[in-house]
Order: sequence, then C-alpha cells, then structure tokens
Amino acid sequence: MRDERPEGPRSAGAAEDAVRAWRRLADSAVLLDGFHALKHAVRFGADVPVALAVDRASALALADELAPDVVRDLAGLLVEVPGEVLRGLVPRLHPTGVAALAGRPARADNLAALGRQARTTPVVVLDNPRNLGNAGAVIRLAAGYGATGVVTTGDLDPWHPTVVRGGAGLHFATAVERLAVEELPSGPLYALDPEGADIRGLKLPDDALLAFGSERSGLSAELRARADQLVSLPMRPQVSSYNLATSVGMTLFHWSAHSTNAP
Ligand SMILES: C[S@@+](CC[C@H](N)C(=O)[O-])C[C@H]1O[C@@H](n2cnc3c(N)ncnc32)[C@H](O)[C@@H]1O
Repeated sequence: MRDERPEGPRSAGAAEDAVRAWRRLADSAVLLDGFHALKHAVRFGADVPVALAVDRASALALADELAPDVVRDLAGLLVEVPGEVLRGLVPRLHPTGVAALAGRPARADNLAALGRQARTTPVVVLDNPRNLGNAGAVIRLAAGYGATGVVTTGDLDPWHPTVVRGGAGLHFATAVERLAVEELPSGPLYALDPEGADIRGLKLPDDALLAFGSERSGLSAELRARADQLVSLPMRPQVSSYNLATSVGMTLFHWSAHSTNAP
C-alpha cells in the first residue's frame, strides 16, 4: 500500500531552517521534551512551530505503533537533525530523540476557561507548590480526569520545562495558570487538610475548586480563609501526610465516583 503520509521537510536546508527557528523561538516557547510530550501537545491542539528528531523514521514508527491518530500531523512536523545538533539545543535529550517547541496558550484564554460560570469539572488549586515534578504529575492527573484547569499560587512557574516534562505535554489538555489567592475563580472551595471532614462523607460538586497545600508547610492562612470547607483523606494515626500529587489523585478519583461529568 502506498504511504500517504506527508513527506515532511527532509533536506539539509530544511534542517538548518528548523534549527534557526528553534533558536529564535526557544526563549518564549514551551519545550516539549520527548515523543510523548509532543504527541499529547499535538493531540490537544497545541501550536507547534518546530519539531526535531534525531531519527525521523523511528519517531514516526513509534507514532504508528502508539499514536496513529497523530501520525499524519507528526509526519508534517518532524524535521531530522543530527544528534549533536539536537543535544546542543536541548541539554538533556529525551531517550526518544525528539524535542519540539510549542506556543504557550494565551493567559486570557486560560482565565476565561477557569472563570467560566457553571463549570462542569473542578479546578485544582496548588497553594505555593515547591516541587516541579509534583506540579507536573498533578497537571497530568487533571488532564486525565478532564478537570477544567490547574491553578498555582506562589512563585513556581507551572509552565517551567521540568513541570511540562512531568506533565507529559498534557498542559495543553487543561487550563494551566498561576494566580494570586485573591484572583482565584469563584466557586465553592474545598481545601484538603488532614484536620478536615472525612472526604468519604462528602460529594464534591462539579464546579468545586479543590485546593492543596505546599509540600513544606501545607495550606497558607490566605487559602484557609477563602475555603468553604476543609476536607481530609483517610489516613491512619502516626502518618503525618500524603504526597501532594497522590492527594490530588485520590481527591479527583473521589469526585469522579460521584459525578456524571467525569471521564
Ligand atoms: C505533603 S502535604 C503537606 C505536609 C506539610 N508538611 C504540612 O504541614 O501540612 C501536601 C498537601 O497534600 C494534602 N494532603 C496530604 N495528606 C492529606 C490528608 N491525609 N488529608 C487531606 N489532605 C492531605 C494537603 O493539601 C497538604 O497540604
């Protein structure tokens, strides 16, 4: 059968153009580190101006195997460049030998999604998170559960390359923004804290804000003041707390068990 995928830009000139585009865009764009991040970003409609591969044929073979829905898009995007060139652009090249840049979604669009009245799925709020890997894992969870978005307070950039890496490119499947506590979208706020009411006795509404404290110090005083209810996850005595991302996972699972809007 004839392969009907677009040929893709393959000449040496195309590689040079792509590297030039990378250098021009790298400071302002979101780094998609590896095949899976690129696959998710394309699937969820990201604008990807440049995508590079050390071995384009292998990357497309991986797409044939794991992501046939985006293989055509990837064939049109991926430009092959020598390994040493790509390693010069991306300090720690992903084992798949693929890296791409994506445009960061406009803050105004994210704020509109987060602030929409009658939201049908929760917004996850991370109050001053410290660990970039945790933030990425939470964005991946939020994407999987179809949450409206993930808001962080504090100084961590939720679009930091390490967060995007932890989120496997799923930032593009939900609305990710940093906001101050006083800027949080309206809606009932359930703040997770071991001193709260047992989650098993509660139904979390679809338009809830589900807030989680910092790994170091838990919920801030400001966030507590804005909370409608403190909620706890079951935990035997003498264990002080769960990891932030696992707490988000349990809470979203609990929401999903009682909602018709969950996946
Ligand atoms: C690692 S914990 C924070 C531990 C921190 N040392 C403290 O003083 O609270 C991160 C966040 O996960 C959530 N969390 C962890 N265990 C929980 C539990 N058993 N019930 C409710 N929330 C929990 C809370 O939102 C908490 O602020």
